[in-house]
Amino acid sequence: MKCYSREMKILAIETSCDETGISLLEQSSGGDIVLLGNALASQIALHAQYGGVFPAMAKRAHAEKIVPLIEAALSEAKLLQPEASTVGSDAIETIKGICTHEEELVTQLETFFNNYQKPDIDYIAVTVGPGLEPALWVGINTAKVLSTIWNIPVIPVNHMEGHVVTAAVTEQSTETGKSYLFRDLPFPLLALLVSGGHTELVLTKSYGEYQKIGQTRDDAVGEAFDKVARMLGLPYPGGPAVSKLAKEFRLKVAESSDEANPLSQFLLPRPMLHSGDYDFSFSGIKTAVLYTIRDLQHEVTEDEKLAIAAAFEDAVVEVLIKKTIRAAEEFHTQTIVVGGGVAGNSFLREQLTAAVQKKLPSVAVLFPEPWLATDNAIMIGLAAFARVQSGSMHTQDALTLRANGNLSITE
Ligand code: KG4
Ligand code: ZN
Repeated sequence: MKCYSREMKILAIETSCDETGISLLEQSSGGDIVLLGNALASQIALHAQYGGVFPAMAKRAHAEKIVPLIEAALSEAKLLQPEASTVGSDAIETIKGICTHEEELVTQLETFFNNYQKPDIDYIAVTVGPGLEPALWVGINTAKVLSTIWNIPVIPVNHMEGHVVTAAVTEQSTETGKSYLFRDLPFPLLALLVSGGHTELVLTKSYGEYQKIGQTRDDAVGEAFDKVARMLGLPYPGGPAVSKLAKEFRLKVAESSDEANPLSQFLLPRPMLHSGDYDFSFSGIKTAVLYTIRDLQHEVTEDEKLAIAAAFEDAVVEVLIKKTIRAAEEFHTQTIVVGGGVAGNSFLREQLTAAVQKKLPSVAVLFPEPWLATDNAIMIGLAAFARVQSGSMHTQDALTLRANGNLSITE
């Protein structure tokens, strides 16, 4: 990895789905990236009441939280200086002109600029897609305002690139905080991206150069976890809840003296396992769960819930592992990085690691720190630094930024 003669500070913004994240990261001349400040507000409790994320609600929650979070992260980074003079009418016009659809932001931003001076930061990195467009716009318009008033350039970031880099760094924790260092990995990397909105296998030739070799044709794996959770009466987000039941089931089976647990009968399909490509399909597994529950002809018992959760997790993880290993073989990668909310799944972590060790012992499998697997702004800042390190970082005139809900990692 290159070394940098000058320190560089980035303010990163993430609002693509149901987490509002603000981070401040500083790359030192030695290359390590210090987390100066981090603030994250989860909307999980809000969306749990409705069993899923509604874009208009997510947007409102981002708009309520983003300015206080910027203040909190800058304050933690000791970058907030009080402002003696009030903001001019030009700045107020800028804010109003940009936030035409986020009126909640106008007064908050005005007060913020009245209270604080321009901080010492070099770039603003913001997620521009993929994700929920109304939610993305909150982060983008905030970035536009900050960039215009402070005259700081903006780096547009693809959310999925953020998920790729989380497993490519090591995290060091010291008394003074956390820092990250990009591992020296041989390219191409194979990235298995598994989140609530995406399931993709991506070949990373260098940071900034991606080839998508496969993706889901219907539901994303996290989405399937969430839907199965709902069928089992579990709260949103369903991934951790389903996984917990599945683990309990496996423990029970291991401890049981019976030869075969009668509840291991729930066998679910492995769609597209032998399709010969790297695409996935998870809606069939989800439907099979629905039929399994229907065919019981009684209210699912607690024991049956455990068994169904395990059968579902088994099916999903088997397909992910088989396709990932085949892709690693075909594309001769020495490293597999896993990213996205489902990368926090302990069964996937154990099983993929064991399968790769057995089949491709020279290949390393890397997972993110569990707290970096789900959405946050650190990953957005790290993606920007990855681009700096690979020489492919670009800035964009803030006023031309747009949200793109379907932005592909290959764009
Ligand atoms: O990456 P992420 O935070 O948001 C998106 O970009 O979509 O991923 C959220 C998804 C949710 O569907 C959630 O249920 C799933 O990741 N998830 C998990 C686990 N933790 C989060 N799925 C399975 N097992 C987990 N431990
Ligand atoms: Zn995500």
